[in-house]
Amino acid sequence: MDLKNKKVLITGGSAGIGKAIIKELVNRGVQDIAVIGRRKEPLEALRTDLSSVNFLTIQGNVAKSDDLEKAVSTISEEWGELDILINNAGVVSAGLLAEQSEEDIINQININVTGLILLTKKALPLLQKSKEGAIMNLSSGFGYIAMPFYSVYAATKAAVGQFSDAMRRELHQYPLHVMTVYPSSTDTDMMTTANTGEMDSPEEVARISVEGLLSKEINVVFGGKEREDSIRMNFLEPRKMDEYAISNFEGMREMAKTHRSM
Ligand SMILES: NC(=O)c1ccc[n+]([C@@H]2O[C@H](COP(=O)([O-])OP(=O)(O)OC[C@H]3O[C@@H](n4cnc5c(N)ncnc54)[C@H](OP(=O)(O)O)[C@@H]3O)[C@@H](O)[C@H]2O)c1
Repeated sequence: MDLKNKKVLITGGSAGIGKAIIKELVNRGVQDIAVIGRRKEPLEALRTDLSSVNFLTIQGNVAKSDDLEKAVSTISEEWGELDILINNAGVVSAGLLAEQSEEDIINQININVTGLILLTKKALPLLQKSKEGAIMNLSSGFGYIAMPFYSVYAATKAAVGQFSDAMRRELHQYPLHVMTVYPSSTDTDMMTTANTGEMDSPEEVARISVEGLLSKEINVVFGGKEREDSIRMNFLEPRKMDEYAISNFEGMREMAKTHRSM
Protein backbone atom coordinates (compact mmCIF):
# COMPACT_ATOMS: atom_id res chain seq x y z
CA MET A 1 0.00 0.00 0.00
CA ASP A 2 1.24 3.43 -0.97
CA LEU A 3 0.14 6.20 1.41
CA LYS A 4 0.84 9.10 -0.91
CA ASN A 5 -2.32 11.16 -1.65
CA LYS A 6 -4.46 8.84 0.44
CA LYS A 7 -7.48 10.36 2.17
CA VAL A 8 -8.02 9.04 5.68
CA LEU A 9 -10.91 9.10 8.15
CA ILE A 10 -10.06 8.19 11.74
CA THR A 11 -12.35 8.10 14.78
CA GLY A 12 -10.85 9.14 18.09
CA GLY A 13 -7.81 10.68 16.45
CA SER A 14 -7.57 13.47 19.00
CA ALA A 15 -5.82 11.43 21.71
CA GLY A 16 -3.88 8.28 22.54
CA ILE A 17 -3.31 5.61 19.90
CA GLY A 18 -5.44 7.48 17.34
CA LYS A 19 -3.38 10.65 17.58
CA ALA A 20 -0.17 8.62 17.37
CA ILE A 21 -1.51 6.88 14.24
CA ILE A 22 -2.20 10.29 12.68
CA LYS A 23 1.40 11.39 13.39
CA GLU A 24 2.75 8.14 11.93
CA LEU A 25 0.64 8.57 8.77
CA VAL A 26 1.69 12.21 8.41
CA ASN A 27 5.37 11.24 8.75
CA ARG A 28 4.80 8.81 5.91
CA GLY A 29 3.25 11.41 3.59
CA VAL A 30 -0.50 11.51 4.31
CA GLN A 31 -1.89 15.04 4.08
CA ASP A 32 -5.68 14.74 4.15
CA ILE A 33 -7.12 13.45 7.41
CA ALA A 34 -10.69 13.62 8.71
CA VAL A 35 -11.07 13.11 12.46
CA ILE A 36 -14.15 12.42 14.58
CA GLY A 37 -14.09 13.08 18.34
CA ARG A 38 -16.57 14.28 20.96
CA ARG A 39 -14.50 17.07 22.54
CA LYS A 40 -13.77 20.21 20.57
CA GLU A 41 -10.47 21.30 22.22
CA PRO A 42 -8.38 18.21 21.45
CA LEU A 43 -9.63 18.32 17.86
CA GLU A 44 -8.54 21.95 17.57
CA ALA A 45 -5.20 21.11 19.18
CA LEU A 46 -4.54 18.72 16.28
CA ARG A 47 -4.56 21.66 13.89
CA THR A 48 -1.93 23.51 15.91
CA ASP A 49 0.19 20.40 16.63
CA LEU A 50 0.22 19.31 12.98
CA SER A 51 -0.19 22.54 11.05
CA SER A 52 0.91 21.07 7.69
CA VAL A 53 -2.05 18.65 7.60
CA ASN A 54 -5.30 19.35 5.77
CA PHE A 55 -7.68 18.33 8.58
CA LEU A 56 -11.42 17.90 8.44
CA THR A 57 -12.33 17.87 12.13
CA ILE A 58 -15.80 16.64 12.90
CA GLN A 59 -17.05 17.06 16.43
CA GLY A 60 -19.32 14.11 17.02
CA ASN A 61 -20.09 10.92 18.87
CA VAL A 62 -19.62 7.66 16.97
CA ALA A 63 -22.59 6.24 18.87
CA LYS A 64 -24.87 8.77 17.15
CA SER A 65 -25.92 7.83 13.64
CA ASP A 66 -26.59 11.47 12.70
CA ASP A 67 -23.01 12.44 13.63
CA LEU A 68 -21.66 9.62 11.45
CA GLU A 69 -23.90 10.75 8.60
CA LYS A 70 -22.56 14.30 9.04
CA ALA A 71 -18.96 13.05 8.95
CA VAL A 72 -19.40 11.07 5.76
CA SER A 73 -21.34 13.84 4.00
CA THR A 74 -18.65 16.38 4.98
CA ILE A 75 -16.02 14.11 3.42
CA SER A 76 -18.18 13.61 0.31
CA GLU A 77 -18.61 17.36 -0.13
CA GLU A 78 -15.02 18.37 0.70
CA TRP A 79 -13.07 15.53 -0.88
CA GLY A 80 -15.52 13.40 -2.86
CA GLU A 81 -13.31 10.42 -2.02
CA LEU A 82 -11.97 8.33 0.86
CA ASP A 83 -9.27 5.64 0.86
CA ILE A 84 -8.66 4.59 4.46
CA LEU A 85 -11.10 4.28 7.37
CA ILE A 86 -9.57 3.76 10.82
CA ASN A 87 -12.15 2.80 13.42
CA ASN A 88 -10.16 3.62 16.55
CA ALA A 89 -12.52 5.39 19.01
CA GLY A 90 -13.27 3.18 21.98
CA VAL A 91 -14.24 3.26 25.63
CA VAL A 92 -13.97 0.90 28.58
CA SER A 93 -15.75 0.36 31.86
CA ALA A 94 -14.40 -2.51 33.95
CA GLY A 95 -15.92 -4.40 36.87
CA LEU A 96 -18.07 -7.37 37.70
CA LEU A 97 -21.06 -7.53 35.36
CA ALA A 98 -23.36 -7.44 38.38
CA GLU A 99 -21.86 -4.09 39.34
CA GLN A 100 -21.78 -2.44 35.90
CA SER A 101 -24.37 0.24 35.25
CA GLU A 102 -26.76 -0.43 32.37
CA GLU A 103 -25.65 2.89 30.94
CA ASP A 104 -21.98 1.83 30.78
CA ILE A 105 -22.93 -1.54 29.27
CA ILE A 106 -25.02 0.05 26.53
CA ASN A 107 -22.52 2.83 25.82
CA GLN A 108 -19.58 0.42 25.49
CA ILE A 109 -21.57 -1.59 22.93
CA ASN A 110 -22.84 1.48 21.07
CA ILE A 111 -19.44 3.19 20.85
CA ASN A 112 -17.16 0.18 20.38
CA VAL A 113 -19.38 -1.88 18.08
CA THR A 114 -22.56 -0.28 16.74
CA GLY A 115 -20.86 3.00 15.86
CA LEU A 116 -17.96 1.21 14.20
CA ILE A 117 -20.29 -0.92 12.08
CA LEU A 118 -22.58 1.99 11.12
CA LEU A 119 -19.66 4.24 10.17
CA THR A 120 -18.18 1.47 8.04
CA LYS A 121 -21.53 1.01 6.28
CA LYS A 122 -21.93 4.74 5.66
CA ALA A 123 -18.32 5.15 4.44
CA LEU A 124 -18.40 2.09 2.16
CA PRO A 125 -19.76 3.79 -0.98
CA LEU A 126 -16.73 6.13 -0.88
CA LEU A 127 -14.23 3.42 0.09
CA GLN A 128 -15.46 1.12 -2.67
CA LYS A 129 -14.44 3.77 -5.21
CA SER A 130 -10.84 3.86 -3.92
CA LYS A 131 -8.21 2.33 -6.19
CA GLU A 132 -6.30 1.09 -3.14
CA GLY A 133 -8.09 1.41 0.18
CA ALA A 134 -8.21 -0.07 3.64
CA ILE A 135 -10.25 -0.41 6.79
CA MET A 136 -8.31 -0.71 10.05
CA ASN A 137 -10.32 -1.64 13.14
CA LEU A 138 -8.98 -1.34 16.69
CA SER A 139 -9.83 -4.35 18.83
CA SER A 140 -7.88 -5.29 21.98
CA GLY A 141 -6.01 -8.22 23.48
CA PHE A 142 -9.30 -8.84 25.32
CA GLY A 143 -10.89 -9.39 21.90
CA TYR A 144 -8.92 -12.64 21.67
CA ILE A 145 -8.73 -13.63 25.33
CA ALA A 146 -11.64 -12.55 27.51
CA MET A 147 -10.97 -11.95 31.18
CA PRO A 148 -13.08 -11.42 34.30
CA PHE A 149 -14.05 -7.81 35.07
CA TYR A 150 -13.91 -7.03 31.33
CA SER A 151 -16.90 -9.08 30.10
CA VAL A 152 -18.65 -6.28 28.22
CA TYR A 153 -15.47 -4.66 26.86
CA ALA A 154 -14.12 -8.06 25.76
CA ALA A 155 -17.42 -8.87 24.05
CA THR A 156 -17.29 -5.59 22.11
CA LYS A 157 -13.68 -6.15 21.06
CA ALA A 158 -14.31 -9.76 19.95
CA ALA A 159 -17.16 -8.37 17.83
CA VAL A 160 -14.71 -5.95 16.19
CA GLY A 161 -12.42 -8.83 15.12
CA GLN A 162 -15.30 -10.88 13.71
CA PHE A 163 -16.70 -7.87 11.89
CA SER A 164 -13.30 -7.20 10.27
CA ASP A 165 -12.92 -10.80 9.08
CA ALA A 166 -16.44 -10.87 7.63
CA MET A 167 -15.95 -7.53 5.86
CA ARG A 168 -12.61 -8.55 4.34
CA ARG A 169 -14.28 -11.65 2.91
CA GLU A 170 -17.40 -9.74 1.82
CA LEU A 171 -15.34 -7.05 0.06
CA HIS A 172 -12.91 -9.39 -1.71
CA GLN A 173 -13.86 -8.01 -5.11
CA TYR A 174 -12.70 -4.52 -4.13
CA PRO A 175 -9.12 -3.33 -3.65
CA LEU A 176 -9.88 -2.79 0.03
CA HIS A 177 -7.75 -4.39 2.71
CA VAL A 178 -9.53 -5.01 6.04
CA MET A 179 -7.39 -5.57 9.13
CA THR A 180 -7.64 -5.65 12.91
CA VAL A 181 -5.21 -4.31 15.50
CA TYR A 182 -5.11 -5.99 18.91
CA PRO A 183 -3.13 -3.73 21.29
CA SER A 184 -2.04 -4.84 24.75
CA SER A 185 -1.96 -2.32 27.63
CA THR A 186 -0.91 0.99 26.05
CA ASP A 187 0.00 4.16 27.92
CA THR A 188 -2.92 6.46 27.01
CA ASP A 189 -5.67 8.37 28.82
CA MET A 190 -7.79 5.21 28.64
CA MET A 191 -5.40 3.51 31.08
CA THR A 192 -4.90 6.27 33.67
CA THR A 193 -7.54 4.71 35.94
CA ALA A 194 -6.24 1.12 35.56
CA ASN A 195 -3.79 -0.30 38.08
CA THR A 196 -1.47 -1.87 35.58
CA GLY A 197 2.27 -2.32 35.22
CA GLU A 198 4.35 -2.03 32.08
CA MET A 199 2.64 -0.62 29.00
CA ASP A 200 3.44 -0.12 25.33
CA SER A 201 3.77 3.47 24.13
CA PRO A 202 1.06 4.74 21.75
CA GLU A 203 3.82 5.73 19.31
CA GLU A 204 5.09 2.14 19.15
CA VAL A 205 1.55 0.78 18.71
CA ALA A 206 0.93 3.32 15.93
CA ARG A 207 4.20 2.54 14.14
CA ILE A 208 3.63 -1.22 14.13
CA SER A 209 -0.03 -0.82 13.14
CA VAL A 210 0.82 1.44 10.19
CA GLU A 211 3.60 -0.94 9.13
CA GLY A 212 0.96 -3.70 9.26
CA LEU A 213 -1.30 -1.59 7.06
CA LEU A 214 1.49 -1.03 4.53
CA SER A 215 2.28 -4.74 4.34
CA LYS A 216 -1.44 -5.66 4.37
CA GLU A 217 -1.32 -7.77 7.49
CA ILE A 218 -4.68 -9.16 8.56
CA ASN A 219 -4.14 -9.14 12.32
CA VAL A 220 -1.59 -6.99 14.15
CA VAL A 221 -1.31 -8.57 17.58
CA PHE A 222 0.74 -6.98 20.36
CA GLY A 223 2.35 -8.88 23.23
CA GLY A 224 4.87 -10.96 21.28
CA LYS A 225 5.34 -14.72 21.25
CA GLU A 226 3.91 -15.09 24.77
CA ARG A 227 0.62 -13.54 23.61
CA GLU A 228 0.48 -15.74 20.52
CA ASP A 229 0.96 -18.84 22.70
CA SER A 230 -1.78 -17.67 25.07
CA ILE A 231 -4.19 -17.10 22.17
CA ARG A 232 -3.52 -20.63 20.95
CA MET A 233 -4.00 -22.05 24.44
CA ASN A 234 -7.22 -20.06 24.94
CA PHE A 235 -8.59 -21.51 21.71
CA LEU A 236 -7.41 -25.11 22.06
CA GLU A 237 -7.46 -25.54 25.84
CA PRO A 238 -9.82 -22.92 27.30
CA ARG A 239 -9.87 -24.69 30.68
CA LYS A 240 -6.18 -23.88 31.10
CA MET A 241 -6.97 -20.22 30.53
CA ASP A 242 -9.81 -20.53 33.08
CA GLU A 243 -7.26 -21.79 35.60
CA TYR A 244 -4.95 -18.87 34.83
CA ALA A 245 -7.81 -16.39 35.29
CA ILE A 246 -8.90 -18.01 38.54
CA SER A 247 -5.39 -17.98 39.99
CA ASN A 248 -5.00 -14.29 39.06
CA PHE A 249 -8.55 -13.28 39.97
CA GLU A 250 -7.69 -10.97 42.88
CA GLY A 251 -4.88 -9.28 40.94
CA MET A 252 -7.26 -8.63 38.08
CA ARG A 253 -9.89 -7.28 40.47
CA GLU A 254 -7.27 -4.81 41.71
CA MET A 255 -6.32 -3.76 38.17
CA ALA A 256 -9.94 -3.28 37.15
CA LYS A 257 -11.18 -1.72 40.40
CA THR A 258 -11.17 1.88 39.21
CA HIS A 259 -10.71 1.31 35.48
CA ARG A 260 -13.23 3.42 33.61
CA SER A 261 -12.74 5.64 30.57
CA MET A 262 -16.05 6.53 28.98
N1 LIG B 1 -4.91 1.94 25.73
C1 LIG B 1 -4.96 0.62 25.78
O1 LIG B 1 -4.36 -0.02 26.67
C2 LIG B 1 -5.73 -0.15 24.74
C3 LIG B 1 -5.55 -1.55 24.70
C4 LIG B 1 -6.26 -2.28 23.77
C5 LIG B 1 -7.10 -1.66 22.87
N2 LIG B 1 -7.26 -0.30 22.93
C6 LIG B 1 -8.21 0.31 21.97
O2 LIG B 1 -7.52 1.28 21.18
C7 LIG B 1 -8.42 2.33 20.82
C8 LIG B 1 -7.81 3.67 21.23
O3 LIG B 1 -7.65 3.67 22.64
P1 LIG B 1 -6.80 4.77 23.42
O4 LIG B 1 -6.12 4.08 24.53
O5 LIG B 1 -6.03 5.59 22.48
O6 LIG B 1 -8.00 5.63 24.06
P2 LIG B 1 -8.01 7.14 24.58
O7 LIG B 1 -6.66 7.61 24.90
O8 LIG B 1 -9.07 7.18 25.63
O9 LIG B 1 -8.54 7.95 23.29
C9 LIG B 1 -9.80 7.66 22.77
C10 LIG B 1 -10.11 8.58 21.62
O10 LIG B 1 -11.40 8.23 21.11
C11 LIG B 1 -12.27 9.34 21.18
N3 LIG B 1 -13.61 8.84 21.50
C12 LIG B 1 -13.99 8.10 22.57
N4 LIG B 1 -15.29 7.85 22.53
C13 LIG B 1 -15.76 8.46 21.41
C14 LIG B 1 -17.05 8.58 20.84
N5 LIG B 1 -18.12 8.04 21.42
N6 LIG B 1 -17.17 9.25 19.68
C15 LIG B 1 -16.09 9.82 19.09
N7 LIG B 1 -14.86 9.74 19.59
C16 LIG B 1 -14.69 9.07 20.74
C17 LIG B 1 -11.67 10.23 22.27
O11 LIG B 1 -12.01 11.60 22.11
P3 LIG B 1 -13.28 12.24 22.89
O12 LIG B 1 -13.23 11.74 24.30
O13 LIG B 1 -13.08 13.71 22.75
O14 LIG B 1 -14.47 11.74 22.14
C18 LIG B 1 -10.18 10.04 22.02
O15 LIG B 1 -9.77 10.84 20.94
C19 LIG B 1 -9.74 2.02 21.52
O16 LIG B 1 -10.61 1.38 20.63
C20 LIG B 1 -9.33 1.06 22.63
O17 LIG B 1 -10.40 0.22 23.01
C21 LIG B 1 -6.59 0.46 23.82
